[in-house]
Amino acid sequence: MTRLNEKVRQEKGDIPPLKMRVGIHTGPVVVGTLGNDLRVEFKAVGDTVNLASRMESLAEPGTTYVSDDTFKLTEGLFRFEALGEKEIKGKEKPLKVYQVIAPSSRRTRFDVSAERGLTPFVGRERELELLLDGFERSKEGRGQAISIISDAGIGKSRLLYEFRKAVTNQGYGSLPHVGEA
Ligand SMILES: Nc1ncnc2c1ncn2[C@@H]1O[C@H](COP(=O)(O)OP(=O)(O)OP(=O)(O)O)[C@@H](O)[C@H]1O
Ligand SMILES: [Mg+2]
Repeated sequence: MTRLNEKVRQEKGDIPPLKMRVGIHTGPVVVGTLGNDLRVEFKAVGDTVNLASRMESLAEPGTTYVSDDTFKLTEGLFRFEALGEKEIKGKEKPLKVYQVIAPSSRRTRFDVSAERGLTPFVGRERELELLLDGFERSKEGRGQAISIISDAGIGKSRLLYEFRKAVTNQGYGSLPHVGEA
C-alpha cells in the first residue's frame, strides 16, 4: 500500500493516501455456494469468519491484527505485539489480540519447532535407510534424486533433519547441499 500510495502521489498529485487493514483468525469454516436462484456466491461462513471480521474491524488502518489461535499457530514465524484483551461484539469474554509486526528471520515451521525442542524421533527406519542408501550410492559417483511427498505435518522436514544428522555423525561434515525445496 505504501508503494501504491507513493506511485499515485507521483502521478496524480497530493491526494489522500489509501489505507488497508487486515484481520486474521484460524478455525473451521463451512465453505460452499450459498444463495438463491438470482445470486449464488462461493462463500466461507461460520464463527471463524465472524471473528476474523471482528479482528479486521479492530485493526488500525495500515495494520494486521490476529486472534490468539492464529498467534499460537504462527508464533515464531512472525514478530507480534500483544495488544492485550479486547471486548469483541458477540463474545462473552474479552479475547487476546495481537498485531503482526514483521516476518521473523526463522525460516520454516520446522525451524521453529526445532528451536522449542524436538520430540524423540520415532519409526521411519525404512525411509531413513532409503535415504542413507542413496547417500552411499552417490558417494560411489551415482547421483541420486529422491522426492519426499506427504501431507502437511507428516514429517518430511524431520526426516531430512534426521538424515542430515546421521550423515554428519558418519563424519562427512555438514551437508550444505541437502536442502528442502
Ligand atoms: N518420526 C517422528 N518422530 C517424532 N516426531 C516427529 C516425527 N516425524 C515428525 N515429527 C514431528 O512432527 C512435527 C511435524 O513434522 P515436520 O515439520 O517434519 O512435517 P512436514 O511434513 O515437514 O510438514 P510441512 O508439510 O508443514 O512442511 C515436527 O515437530 C516433527 O519433529
Ligand atoms: Mg516441512
